[in-house]
Amino acid sequence: MSADTLLSVQKLERHFDGLKAVDGISFSVHRGEVVSIIGPNGSGKTTTLNLVTGAIRPNGGTITLDGERIERADSARIAEHGIARTFQNGRVFATLSVADNIEVGLHTTLRAHRPFRRLSNLFLLRWIPLLAELYIAIVGTPASRRERAAIDAVVESEIDRFEARLGRRRDDPAYSLSYANRRRTEIARALALEPKLLVLDEPTAGMNQSETAEVLAQLLELKAAGQSILLVEHKLDLVMTVSDRVIVMDGGRIIAEGRPDDVRRDTAVVEAYLGRRRGLGGVDLA
Ligand SMILES: Nc1ncnc2c1ncn2[C@@H]1O[C@H](COP(=O)(O)OP(=O)(O)OP(=O)(O)O)[C@@H](O)[C@H]1O
Ligand SMILES: [Mg+2]
Repeated sequence: MSADTLLSVQKLERHFDGLKAVDGISFSVHRGEVVSIIGPNGSGKTTTLNLVTGAIRPNGGTITLDGERIERADSARIAEHGIARTFQNGRVFATLSVADNIEVGLHTTLRAHRPFRRLSNLFLLRWIPLLAELYIAIVGTPASRRERAAIDAVVESEIDRFEARLGRRRDDPAYSLSYANRRRTEIARALALEPKLLVLDEPTAGMNQSETAEVLAQLLELKAAGQSILLVEHKLDLVMTVSDRVIVMDGGRIIAEGRPDDVRRDTAVVEAYLGRRRGLGGVDLA
């Protein structure tokens, strides 16, 4: 593994009742790289992201982030390690405001507000962190106030990133937002963690053309700022524009991988998309 490798996945496997959703795949993401996974419906893209982000455990294989093995870690720990994600169907807390939805993601990183938090895993001692958190919530400490200010600053900077869309909606509950704004809120929540790797599962699903173009512009901006991104997306124009490398999955396996232009010409890819007329059926790769 080179020093430039941020994420390395080796022989990763996950099956569901005999169905090999992810069937021994290996790939890596280098620092500052945008890597996309494409493939027909049910080819194992989301399962791959779920494995990388700790939402589910693999049946085999390894996942290494920045030199540390994470395939057995849970999602909270993986978030601390530096992977933040969004979900295919979009997940925000409907009754929380935009600002609070963004802040929610930051709670795994709190230190001054959650002293002794490691004890919370120990059954007999878990009242200690609870009492400490209660005290800090009511009385506060200089460190907890500094942390509060830092959190507010991060939330504001994420709202600023989407100023034109979320600026006026900062205190509105998520249920009152448009679908596209809910997805923006979710992306802002992930970015607030300043992740080493940003994982996005179909960020433009359900968006119209101009909303999709806006997401593309934002992805290009993140890329220019050096953000490493692992993206699953069905809109191939966007994929081909933003990606350094494209991985094509079919039936849980990687059937092609390379630069966007090379993948576009690969006959196995054309076969996966057009030959069997399923999944993206009918998408013009030319
Ligand atoms: N929790 C689960 N239990 C049982 N089967 C599952 C589960 N999650 C995924 N699968 C199956 O694994 C296969 C891969 O699913 P996955 O969601 O990874 O596909 P995908 O490539 O993301 O598809 P799409 O483009 O439709 O989002 C599918 O056959 C799916 O039905
Ligand atoms: Mg999916």
